[in-house]
Amino acid sequence: MRPTDARVLLTGATGGIGQATARALLQAGAALLLVGRSAERLEQQAHQLVQAGSTANRVRWTQADINRADDRALLAREAQRLDCNVVIHNAGVPAFGRLGALDPGAIDNVLQTNLLAPMLLTQALLPRLQGLPAAQLVFVGSVLGSIGLPGFSVYSASKFGLHGFAQALRRELQGSGVQVQYIGPRSTDTGFNDPAVRHYNQATGTAQDTPETVAGEILRLLQDGAAERFLGFPEKLAVRLNGLVPQWLDGSFRRHRESLPAHPDFDPSPLKGTSP
Ligand SMILES: NC(=O)c1ccc[n+]([C@@H]2O[C@H](COP(=O)([O-])OP(=O)(O)OC[C@H]3O[C@@H](n4cnc5c(N)ncnc54)[C@H](OP(=O)(O)O)[C@@H]3O)[C@@H](O)[C@H]2O)c1
Repeated sequence: MRPTDARVLLTGATGGIGQATARALLQAGAALLLVGRSAERLEQQAHQLVQAGSTANRVRWTQADINRADDRALLAREAQRLDCNVVIHNAGVPAFGRLGALDPGAIDNVLQTNLLAPMLLTQALLPRLQGLPAAQLVFVGSVLGSIGLPGFSVYSASKFGLHGFAQALRRELQGSGVQVQYIGPRSTDTGFNDPAVRHYNQATGTAQDTPETVAGEILRLLQDGAAERFLGFPEKLAVRLNGLVPQWLDGSFRRHRESLPAHPDFDPSPLKGTSP
């Protein structure tokens, strides 16, 4: 779709990739509905975008927590009111560390935010999108949605799920006016990655992209209609290889394992039995 024809509902608009994507889309001529949980941040962001040269009627915002059913219903109404024909599912939360060190509540939140909420929001938006001559649904996944690395079991589960959802939905909706697309960025320099991830990236020689690079690729995806795209080399190659012969890669991640934060509660002594 031409960006000048796009009226985009963008979740995660206040984050690093979201802000860069909002700027890129506006510069290319799209109209935006910014979505995030903080009204203050959204208002400030909208103000800055207008100050940077966008006309005010091309920048709207709605405060919504995508994990709340009421808020998803609100977004569906706003999307209808503003006649949105593109949805970029970009909101997401991280989880990094050995499985045993992750908080169960955080695991729940990652699966809710990264997987369940985009599925349910899509379900709420789809009936109207299917009535339009053309619409696009873009899912921001991750290379970790196609290759599992030590330290990212839960995050990978959420993004593998999102990748599978996008792929199946793309095939389900083929021939309708709704195109489904998936983008898998590699590590990106935003507040998403805490110091432990930055240390891991450094120790494993993992490169980072700028959020502007990812935003440029999201814009390109919108324009060229590609089904899916991954960012970075060797990540693209690793994704392909992992899809074909995952066991070939199993021995390649010793450095990654060794670069994980130590588990504070880990007791290396043999497990003791219990009896009633
Ligand atoms: N950075 C990376 O290394 C990287 C790599 C690959 C893929 N990705 C993916 O790219 C996307 C954007 O990441 P980022 O780096 O821009 O992260 P970020 O800077 O942490 O931004 C995350 C965004 O998600 C929003 N969000 C989180 N939970 C939400 C909820 N329950 N309801 C509504 N909004 C919510 C946040 O909004 P508020 O907090 O303002 O509500 C924020 O706008 C994510 O899906 C992430 O998984 C990131």
